[in-house]
Amino acid sequence: MEILVATEKPFAQIAIRQIREVTEAAGFKLSLLENYKNKTELLTAVSTADALIVRSDIVSEEVLEAAKNLKIVVRAGSGYDNLDLESCTLHNVVAMNTPGQNSNAVAELAFELMLYQIRHGFSGKAGTELRGKTLGLHAFGNVGKYVADIARGFGMDIYAYDPFVSERVMKNNGAKQCINIDELYIKCQFISIHMPSNEITKKSIGYDLMKEMPQNAVLVNTARKELIDETGLLKIFEERSDFSYLSDIEPDCKAIIEEKYQGRYIFTAKKMGAQTEESNINAGVAAARQIVEYFKTGKEKYRVNRK
Ligand code: 3PG
Repeated sequence: MEILVATEKPFAQIAIRQIREVTEAAGFKLSLLENYKNKTELLTAVSTADALIVRSDIVSEEVLEAAKNLKIVVRAGSGYDNLDLESCTLHNVVAMNTPGQNSNAVAELAFELMLYQIRHGFSGKAGTELRGKTLGLHAFGNVGKYVADIARGFGMDIYAYDPFVSERVMKNNGAKQCINIDELYIKCQFISIHMPSNEITKKSIGYDLMKEMPQNAVLVNTARKELIDETGLLKIFEERSDFSYLSDIEPDCKAIIEEKYQGRYIFTAKKMGAQTEESNINAGVAAARQIVEYFKTGKEKYRVNRK
């Protein structure tokens, strides 16, 4: 059995060592395609693999067609919008994710972005503090809970909106429930987005919500760029000089924002939320364990595609 780790953005070496330990202890062979530059390399590498571990790498119909022996693909991370789930099902490939494994790293990045921004990039200009400020969590899953945890330490006033999470769960994690999305954006100076990207959520955050935010609004996106309606984003940048947007992945309209709105944005060049040694170990090893368990026992916990 060959398990292939195919990552355009590589895991830390310490994570690869631990993934190797798990796979080899189970009697499987580990192959690596790290830092690849084009799809052809991926298509060649997957041709002999029985199992595949990826990060944000696109697993399309073309990849699945080339992966003749593939039985399982695990997205080492939470968001699986990079996997073509219908094609996985058609090719009899089990698709899984590893929910929760990257959550703390992503939550810490949200604060790294906020702190850097409100201290004006450590430029010497007087900044502001988080203590006593309102923080809105747009979705309250694994990452949202970690963000609430850290925010309590900063003394922030925490609100959350998530139609799938009860008021009790929010309260237990120190957040006050907002009954609708408008309430969250009206109340909170800082909003941190923690939703998956899917047909319902894509472009769901636009001008109408952003314009509701209080003075010195800071919108933080460590989730997916697709969630933002960029026409609305540009409109709000133009209308409100007190609005900042901090995003872990460059928006498509990055060039315009960089040219016109200096000091009001941070865009990481590569998605950095899950790029810590700890997170790489958590997600990579979880993926390897899920594959081993699937082959040994047929267990399909965390399967995300139809049979
Ligand atoms: C996730 O969905 O878990 C994160 O977006 C991680 O993405 P990455 O593995 O590409 O860093």
